[in-house]
Amino acid sequence: MSRQVFVHLLPVLFEPADLQGGVAVVIDVLRATSTIIHALAAGAECVVPCGEIDEARRVAVQSPAGTVLLGGERGGLKVSGFDLGNSPVEYDSGKVRGKRIVMSTTNGTRAMIRARGARRVLIAALINSAAAAQMLACESGPVHFVCAGTDGHITLEDVLCAGGIARRLGLAGGDFDTNDDATQLALNLYETCGRDYDLALHVLRSSRGGRNLMDCGLGSDIAVCAKENRFAIVPELFGDSWEIRIAGNRP
Ligand code: MLT
Repeated sequence: MSRQVFVHLLPVLFEPADLQGGVAVVIDVLRATSTIIHALAAGAECVVPCGEIDEARRVAVQSPAGTVLLGGERGGLKVSGFDLGNSPVEYDSGKVRGKRIVMSTTNGTRAMIRARGARRVLIAALINSAAAAQMLACESGPVHFVCAGTDGHITLEDVLCAGGIARRLGLAGGDFDTNDDATQLALNLYETCGRDYDLALHVLRSSRGGRNLMDCGLGSDIAVCAKENRFAIVPELFGDSWEIRIAGNRP
């Protein structure tokens, strides 16, 4: 039986129960999921996603001093009193190796919380899209791409990334049903402007999320997040421990 592929253009456009039995892939290219991939690739022990800033502070104080870092943003900028903002480049091994990162961002971590009902919750961005496709190809059941969006609005970069991963699934030769209209939109967007770095960069810069970052003086992060396949890891949110760690294929 073919596996259905759904692209949810915003987290509010599905009910959490719709994801039961499927694999969710949460995407927030600018920048939460790109940053989480950087953090784990740099040796962070895990990332704990929190919807609210106060909750993140409460979770962080429960860990022994020196083992935890608070990261995230509001309005794109580092939260007062947090150790790190939401720029991928801040999460280098010198700062994060061996550390537990408690993170709260405006859209990305909230999208993860909404996706928690899926059988598996994977974390993807352009920088790990081939690895994410490879992992999905080894899985079973429906695939649900959850685009985080920006402040309740659809953002092109998340849709572009979903389209790129969906395209790779098709190329991998598996039996995937991509007839869902939003999936077709995402595939068309990727075909039109995702396969060329400069075009993709232009899309990211012109999107709502990209414009917000440039307004905050954080435009250099966009080029970092636009580079496809820099990393071969796929983070996964484990519901029982509520930690994001590097995933492995499951038998
Ligand atoms: C978010 O989760 O809202 C984003 O990652 C925003 C940002 O780029 O900082």
